[in-house]
Amino acid sequence: MSAVAILGSSRADGETARLLDAVLTHLPDTERVDLSSLRIGPYSYEHAHKDDDFLPLARAMLKARAIVLASPVYWYSMSAQMKTFFDRLTDITDPPYKTIGKQLAGKTLFTVATGGVPEAPDSFIHPFEDTAGYFNMRWGGMLYRRGSGELSDEDRLAARNFAKEIAAV
Ligand SMILES: Cc1cc2nc3c(=O)[nH]c(=O)nc-3n(C[C@H](O)[C@H](O)[C@H](O)COP(=O)(O)O)c2cc1C
Repeated sequence: MSAVAILGSSRADGETARLLDAVLTHLPDTERVDLSSLRIGPYSYEHAHKDDDFLPLARAMLKARAIVLASPVYWYSMSAQMKTFFDRLTDITDPPYKTIGKQLAGKTLFTVATGGVPEAPDSFIHPFEDTAGYFNMRWGGMLYRRGSGELSDEDRLAARNFAKEIAAV
């Protein structure tokens, strides 16, 4: 499998999905998951949600060398769906699921993002880059698009080039 792609947006067919799918069209061997279609509860110190969809998704991430996380910029940050997913990564830093977190080492994390400003704010970017580092993953960088509606030829070229980088890991 080329990659596991995880979409966290409040719209299944919104701008972030549009940009992600422009990348994935060049990566047919990718598992695409929409966090909004899963049942993933907030982090709980008591592991109250341990039987929800998070652990199967975490295990699915181990099947590929590249993990693509797609989020819109919502209030200078990642979407709430993506933040809940990030918080739940805590589950795989401690026993009994720590071995899952350890196996992320060596993979490459890519970010796909859309927003309303010309450049994604640092407050959006840093959690992706820093979290990759925390798990000893490489951060492969971000494909960012400002704007809405149909992709331009330039957007499509950028998406194709990004897909090539993902395929190359
Ligand atoms: C709740 C919300 C908060 C937003 N906050 C920001 C923001 O802080 N910075 C920005 O550039 N765009 C912001 N936007 C615009 C979105 O990032 C932009 O429209 C994005 O492409 C939407 O992607 P989606 O269709 O996947 O939701 C916000 C949009 C929403 C709905």
